[in-house]
Amino acid sequence: MCPASSPISREHVIVGWDQVRSSYDRVAGKYEARFLGELSGKPRDRELLDAFATAVGDPVVEVGCGPGQIGAYVRAHRRRVVGADISVAMATRVRRRLDAAIVANMQSLPLATGAAAGLLAFYSLIHIRRRDVDGVLREFARVLRPGGRVLLSVHEGQGETEVEEFLGEAVGVSVTFFDLDELVAATRAAGFEIVFAERRAPYASESETFRLYIEATRPASAS
Ligand SMILES: C[S@@+](CC[C@H](N)C(=O)[O-])C[C@H]1O[C@@H](n2cnc3c(N)ncnc32)[C@H](O)[C@@H]1O
Repeated sequence: MCPASSPISREHVIVGWDQVRSSYDRVAGKYEARFLGELSGKPRDRELLDAFATAVGDPVVEVGCGPGQIGAYVRAHRRRVVGADISVAMATRVRRRLDAAIVANMQSLPLATGAAAGLLAFYSLIHIRRRDVDGVLREFARVLRPGGRVLLSVHEGQGETEVEEFLGEAVGVSVTFFDLDELVAATRAAGFEIVFAERRAPYASESETFRLYIEATRPASAS
């Protein structure tokens, strides 16, 4: 679910999206093996996804889907789920378990305005530089139809880190950490109404950051 536990950081993050993509291409197989079954040990995440899947319509877009374990859980609730990931290797894997998959950068999704009823982004916003987060949240709002719903999760913390090793592979990814109030404010500023925002302690199986969750809706009156 994330390279947050990796120890190496630098003051100045220089990793670009092309390097994030090639890094996830490199670790895709190991990532799938490590995280595909993770929800069995995460009761709170299952509760949140159960509620999301019940409240949302079709289709749901899972942004930064990785191997698609989050989207597949929602799909098991009879939702139609499309995966989107910047990594070709991840998008190829996710085709096996979601309704469709596209290779896409969340900063500019190749989806029509209002095309989606729901949007999931679990631990993918963490790879967006802080200065670009507002724009990505506005892009999420654009692809959601009025009344649509988003569920986000990220790692709590401060600043940005550059990770050079993940799952035993040499990689280059930047990780942005968030404060809950900061992310709530940014989500509101992008045009969403907050349904809930919460933080939880890490489970024993997880890296040692607190987890932040935000569910929000695009107002039904939005144009
Ligand atoms: C930490 S993994 C999370 C995967 C999955 N959502 C999960 O919870 O296990 C981050 C994923 O986001 C993807 N990603 C990173 N930057 C992205 C971007 N700009 N646009 C789309 N996907 C991106 C990566 O390729 C990777 O699959």
